[in-house]
Parts: sequence; structure tokens; C-alpha cells
Amino acid sequence: MKNNDSQSASEIVIFGALGDLSRRKLLPALYQLDNAGLLHNDSRIIGAARQDIDNEAFIALVLENLNKFISEPINEEVLERFLARLVYQHLDIKNAESYVNLADTLAGGHETRVYYFSTAPALYGDIGNGLDHAKLITDADRVVMEKPIGHCLESSKVINDHVSKYFKENQIYRIDHYLGKETVLNLIVLRFANSLFTTNWDRNSIDHVQITVAESVGIEGRFGFYDEAGQMRDMIQNHLLQILSLLAMEPPAELDADSIRDEKLKAIKALVPITRHNIKDKTVRGQYTDGYLNGVPVPGYLNEEGANKDSTTETFVAIKAEIDNWRWSGVPFYLRTGKRMPAKHSEIVVHFKKQPHNIFKDSYVDLPANKLTIRLQPDEGVELQMMNKIPGIASQMNIHENKLDLSFSDTYKDTRVVDAYERLMLEVINGNQALFVRRDEVEAAWAWADSIIDAWQSSNEKPKPYPAGSWGPVSSISLIARDDRQWVE
Ligand code: BG6
Repeated sequence: MKNNDSQSASEIVIFGALGDLSRRKLLPALYQLDNAGLLHNDSRIIGAARQDIDNEAFIALVLENLNKFISEPINEEVLERFLARLVYQHLDIKNAESYVNLADTLAGGHETRVYYFSTAPALYGDIGNGLDHAKLITDADRVVMEKPIGHCLESSKVINDHVSKYFKENQIYRIDHYLGKETVLNLIVLRFANSLFTTNWDRNSIDHVQITVAESVGIEGRFGFYDEAGQMRDMIQNHLLQILSLLAMEPPAELDADSIRDEKLKAIKALVPITRHNIKDKTVRGQYTDGYLNGVPVPGYLNEEGANKDSTTETFVAIKAEIDNWRWSGVPFYLRTGKRMPAKHSEIVVHFKKQPHNIFKDSYVDLPANKLTIRLQPDEGVELQMMNKIPGIASQMNIHENKLDLSFSDTYKDTRVVDAYERLMLEVINGNQALFVRRDEVEAAWAWADSIIDAWQSSNEKPKPYPAGSWGPVSSISLIARDDRQWVE
């Protein structure tokens, strides 16, 4: 396998290297990059964590996780090369002196380093301080931060202020892993490489948009973390608003990081605030109760392991979001996301306007409007619902609704679907910030989300119950039915 020596060489330091994210996603992603020949020959991967283990134990643990989380057969030659890149660094993250040892390990390394903060955000300041203390930061280095960036606007500012004491904005890569998903990236291509959608993408052609991100999993043993966050902070503030901003933004002048992020920011800023005055009309929050998934009984949120029985945290949110600008005035974006829904299923449905006049009444009294469905996961693809004549000799023109279906798995049969973290890791190594969230975007998203969370808190209403395995509380159906519309199931 040929390595690409023209890439800038990178040492990758993962703080929290023994944690869940690193074991499940980051290390397997780096192996895949190595397998694809995208790591420099001399790249090293330094795993830093507080556990006092030696290099052999670290390598054994990484190997175990590669076998567990990589579904394809592992290439022995690549594996050998990859494992030889690994170095373990025992580190007391809060103790700046401890970083001197890291400096010894890094001595003689490459010019460009990637520092991946895969720890609790409360530690980001300590890591910055330690790196600075050991003189380990140069202008060429990059830092990667995982969500959540804060709990609200104010706390996100504190985290960002801490990190920006040591790194400039052009060195900071804030991850929203949805931006690394193939289908999310394809939104940019779909919108700006197809004149059909470039010209019909506004209030004149589109009636409304639905974005659904449904998960069948519950909170997967992380009650403590999730209960502090809830679905609004965990999913809407980041993943769903990122999708919305890509759908709603104006065409960026170019594909570079700031052209895209400037436009996304404008879209988020144009979201109409939801406050205590309109919260009831615009949002629904729910919490799952005991129910069944595929016929198997599953506990409700309050019966999850370690649950606080009085919790009023939401596990489902539906929102009627509106964008106050020339393009989208009067076009609602209905957002819906929840845990313990019937299936893992994420999609965007763009509902075009109906024909103003129907000349096919004999065959179809109420002509349905065109619908563009973008299946984000699983069964990734794009589908356009349209009317078609049913072939036949009958004198009456018989028509029906049919679809053009571009299924990615059928079309790109021999192409491996790249995991979001592989792409994002590669972009960091290559120094391209386009797929990372800029500070002002994070803050604009928090400002909008905070207003909703405040309004919920002041209304003092409990979330509406919904049985695990259902599509959410009944009131989410009313949210959209009030506008004479319905969710696509
Ligand atoms: C994470 C959330 O950011 O995204 C999780 O914290 C959620 O609660 C996950 O399950 C969903 O990601 P994906 O890629 O499985 O859709």
C-alpha cells in the first residue's frame, strides 16, 4: 500500500485515549486512514490517559477494539504498521507538570500536531494549560473538540474562552459528527450541483421541510450524562441545526471553510426565536415510558438503570422552526428527534408545492405534490416522488404516484461507506475546517436552543409520555396537523 507522503505529517495525540469514543471511533478511524494510505509514513498516534498502563497493554487494548469495531477483515500488513505507530502516555490531565513527560515523548516529532480532546469539556482548559506549560503548542498545531460544547450559551463561551487562550480559531476543529456523514455532505452536492434544485429551492416552490432523526436506542447506560442534557441539547442544538443550516443556507461562493460556515451561520441566525409566548404552538417535548421494540419489552426512561424517578428530561422533541429571510419566509421546517422510536431512521423530506390546477381529475382528484426524500441513514439514498402515466390503452389518462430512487448501496456497490470519523480525522490532518463548526455557529445555535429550554422551564410542564417503540407523543402529530400537514412515516 502506498502512503501519501505529500500530506503534512501529523502526530496525533488523543487525550482520553482509553475512553469510549477513542476505542469505538477514533482509533478504528485512524486504522482505516492508514489502510487507505492516508497517514504519513512517520505519523505517530499518542494515546494519553490517566490510567497507569504500559505501551504493550495499550497496544493490546487497541487491537482488541479494532477487532471489535471494524467489520471488514483486518489487513495484517497495515495492522503491523498501525500498531507500531502507537505510543501510550500516562498523564495526569489536571497537572501541568505531567505534560513535561508528554513533551519528552513528543520530542523530535513532526511540525504539525493534532491534539484530540476526547475528554469531558470541563478538562479542555486544563489540557490547554498543560500543553502551554510544556511549550507544546505552535501555530501549526490543531485541536479537536468534541461536543457538547457547553450546556448553554454562557457555558459554551467559557469552554471556548479557555481553549482560545491557547489556540486561534483557525486551529480549532469543533466536531459535529453529522457533518462527516456521506449523506449530509451530499446535501451540498444535491443543492449546488443540480440546477433543478438550485432554482426550485425556496418559498416559491417548497411548501415545507421535515427533518426526522429517530433512534431506536434508549440512553445506553449513560443516564447521568443524558439526564443533564436531554434531546434538545444532545441532538437539536447540534446535529439537527447543522442539517437545517445546510438545507437552508444561501449558495456559498466557494467550497472553502469560511464561505460555507458564513452561510450556515446566517441561516441559524435567521431562525425565528421560540419563547414562552409561542412555545406551546411551536414545540412538543416527550419522554418514553415502558414499551416494546420489535416485540421485546423495554423499560421507560424513568425505569432505566440509575434513573432519577422524578426526572423531567425530554427524550423526544418536535419543533416547528421558521426562518425569517427572503428565501424561506412562510416555509416551516418541522424537526423531530427522539430515543426509543420504532427504528433508527433519519431522513429529510422536502415537500414541494402542489400544482395550482389539476387537469387529471378523472384519474386523480387531489394531485399530490412532489416530494424529495433524502435518506440520511440507514439505506442511504435520494428519492423523488412524482406522478407518472400508467401505461395502457385506456382512453382515460390513468396516472399514479411513483418514485425515482437513487439507492447508494445499489449504485455504489463496491464502495465502502466511510465512517464520519474517518473523514473528519482526515480533514483535521489536512487542515481543512469546512466540516467543523465555528465558534459563532455554536453560539448562534445555543442562543436559539436556550430560548426554547428557558421557555420549557418557565412553563413547568412535564414532558408528554410516549410508549417506547412509538413515533413520539400524540401532540407531535397535532403540532403539524394544525397546519394541515402530516409527518411522513
Ligand atoms: C450523539 C448523541 O451525538 O449522536 C447520541 O450524543 C446519539 O445520543 C448519537 O445517539 C447519534 O449518532 P448516529 O451517528 O448514530 O446517528
